[in-house]
Amino acid sequence: MITNTEIEKRGNQYPDHIVDFKHESDKFYFTTHNGVILELTILRDSMIRFRYATEHVFEPDFSYAISDDVNLGYNELEVIEEIAEYIITTSKIKIYINKSNLKVHIFDMENALIMEDELGFHWEENYAYGGNIVKMGKICHSGESYYGMGDKASHTNLKGKRVNNWVTDSYAYGKDQEPLYKSIPFYVGLKENIAYGVFFDNSFSTYFDFANEKRNVTSFWADGGEMNYYFFYGPEMSKVVESYTDLTGVPELPPLWALGFHQSKWSYFPESKVKEIASTFRKLQIPCDAIYLDIDYMDGFRCFTWDEQRFPNPKKMIEELEEDGFKTITMIDPGIKIDREYWVYQQAMENGFFCRRADGPHFKGKVWPGECKFPDFTDPEVREWWAGLYKEMIADVGVHGVWNDMNEPAVMEVPSKTANLDVRHNYDGHPCSHRKAHNVYGMQMVRATYDGIKKYTFPKRPFVLTRAAYSGTQRYASTWTGDNVATWEHLWIANVQMQRMCMSGYSFVGSDIGGFAEQPNGELFARWMQLAIFHPFCRVHSSGDHGDQEPWSFGEEITEIVKKYIELRYQLLPYLYTMFYKYIKNGLPMLQSLVFYDQKDTQTHFRTDEFLFGEQLLVCPVQEPNAQGRRMYFPQGKWYNYWTDEVVSGGVEKWVAAEIETIPLFVREGAMVPKYPVQQYVGEKEIKELGIDVYYKDGVENSSVYEDQQDGYDYKKGRYSLRRFRLRGKENQLIIQQFKDGNFTTPYEKFKLTFHGLPFTISTVQLDNEVVNNTDIKLNGNNIIEISKDFTELHIIGK
Ligand code: NOJ
Repeated sequence: MITNTEIEKRGNQYPDHIVDFKHESDKFYFTTHNGVILELTILRDSMIRFRYATEHVFEPDFSYAISDDVNLGYNELEVIEEIAEYIITTSKIKIYINKSNLKVHIFDMENALIMEDELGFHWEENYAYGGNIVKMGKICHSGESYYGMGDKASHTNLKGKRVNNWVTDSYAYGKDQEPLYKSIPFYVGLKENIAYGVFFDNSFSTYFDFANEKRNVTSFWADGGEMNYYFFYGPEMSKVVESYTDLTGVPELPPLWALGFHQSKWSYFPESKVKEIASTFRKLQIPCDAIYLDIDYMDGFRCFTWDEQRFPNPKKMIEELEEDGFKTITMIDPGIKIDREYWVYQQAMENGFFCRRADGPHFKGKVWPGECKFPDFTDPEVREWWAGLYKEMIADVGVHGVWNDMNEPAVMEVPSKTANLDVRHNYDGHPCSHRKAHNVYGMQMVRATYDGIKKYTFPKRPFVLTRAAYSGTQRYASTWTGDNVATWEHLWIANVQMQRMCMSGYSFVGSDIGGFAEQPNGELFARWMQLAIFHPFCRVHSSGDHGDQEPWSFGEEITEIVKKYIELRYQLLPYLYTMFYKYIKNGLPMLQSLVFYDQKDTQTHFRTDEFLFGEQLLVCPVQEPNAQGRRMYFPQGKWYNYWTDEVVSGGVEKWVAAEIETIPLFVREGAMVPKYPVQQYVGEKEIKELGIDVYYKDGVENSSVYEDQQDGYDYKKGRYSLRRFRLRGKENQLIIQQFKDGNFTTPYEKFKLTFHGLPFTISTVQLDNEVVNNTDIKLNGNNIIEISKDFTELHIIGK
């Protein structure tokens, strides 16, 4: 028997010297004398995978995170053996592997050091559970910064923090609280203007220490599994995030209505209440596209059932709501009530779909319906069954989208708040315990949900929302940040969480606007809404055990403010949809933290509040009560104040006025911001003209607008319209060129261009090289031009 002192003495183990080296096409194997193997795979010139085995044995290679559509391939690969090291060179980086200890150093082609092992790979045997605690130590250089890591409620720059990834139901979490609802073990490092990324693809509980314990060390480790990480070289942050997003995947385009405003509460019932809420939106003319049914629509919290008292005819109700422009979203939880009369329970029992404890009995846990059993969503057969359960709800009853909650899985009345660690999982044919499957459980649930919703919604696009997530979950569902609180601090948290999620490949994200727990006052609600219309997913949700939280719940003044901002969101829909298109096409995050926008400017490295909505709008929320305005930092470039057209040159911090009806909002010069008219819901109006706000620039700026049928899959067959605009401004003229891709004919032929900051009075307008008279264009004052046909070049000449 091994004594405790012996275990302590053994502690960390390290690779020793390399005794064998093999090169097989894109893979290299370095084997040490003490049985460690480093498998290094060149996925791209700038994307390298590192896997470490101990005792000469790798685990089966399987991951839920990696997308099937990842683009792989490299241009150059060379390896040389020196006295002390092996050097592998691609067209972007050089990787040094030390022969005596397997430590890795990575350099760029100018020989600048990017990342360097401190202790490098090491491990500790986990005598309690078996397997290894696998660890990696890197040097943290002075001035190095760290970003990403999913939903952490901490400063955007994680330097000095230690975080844990273990998806957890974190009701009313606080700033810096760990762990939260998601496990996204990916960070972006920024060292002397070189950005790189690390994705530690390990579904056990993982930890990252960003120079917290030791000032000059960044380390990460996991409670089990393999040291298996991907390294991404930038040098731009955008390249790093794009590569990670490509590796772990992107969603399909959502239906456009999903980017509208959503209203939720725990819970709206009975039917008359749901209808009252919906009709109040229409009466007050506040746009809204979706209304949510939380758990109380179910019969005794049994998933896939309806409470017949509260909702006697859900199909009819949903149809009527739909006629009024509302989509209905229902909640589905993972816990299945133990009830022998309940068909879902029966089916799962008959087919052996519930998770079992190590010694055989089913795993039971208490959730809303009382004692429940939990399907093993890591089993492909269970997922298929689960997807099929949605048939009635979607295809027959007509529900438009589904919301998966509590899928960490959350379990009540136990200190761990989740399943027992010995619970067994199929893990797609790699049987394991909950220690390994926990972080992917919710992901696999929402994956099955997505498959079902997609199947039964077809030929329309699915809409799915999840609370728990592991890297890659963005392929299946949008997400929200869980049970936040109606406080000013939580407004700050929501702002950093959305930026961080976007930086972590997961852009379709939003917070419970106004806070889930507790009651916001009108001012907080209005400020939160001003921020949240700039979040990709925009939904009010609250716990409902306090006052109301609808846009009209806080008196007339606040209602008017909130309405104005929801209207602005609807006007900006084509801009937002184009952001989404760029996200799925290029992996570009929909929101950009300032450091992402300009990593060269060290002023941006510790900013939390300002961010870019898309590429051209700069937003900075007011995050405290009674403010008349706030100080904010302007990154490089020139920025038009959206409200006043006043121009600010970047590189400075400035006071910006922002009374309660105003959020600091700026537009990058040269931008052409597409706008639709305000609609009460997507599809209410046929779009007869595209509004474009044109912000004059002395120089060149590109903008674009993506459009399609707003739903369905024809866009994948080329039925989309991508207008790319190139604006070129000079002293007394402005040239706008348009290039078009795709074969979707937009429903409008008119363009209404509103010019901001024109330094001259318009004298002549040429459309496609012909001087035009007032029948083709309508010159409206000095700053509006209405054009009644499509164009490739617009030439505006000043007096
Ligand atoms: C927890 C979720 O986070 C919350 O949004 C929901 O309202 C409750 N569960 C009840 O379903």
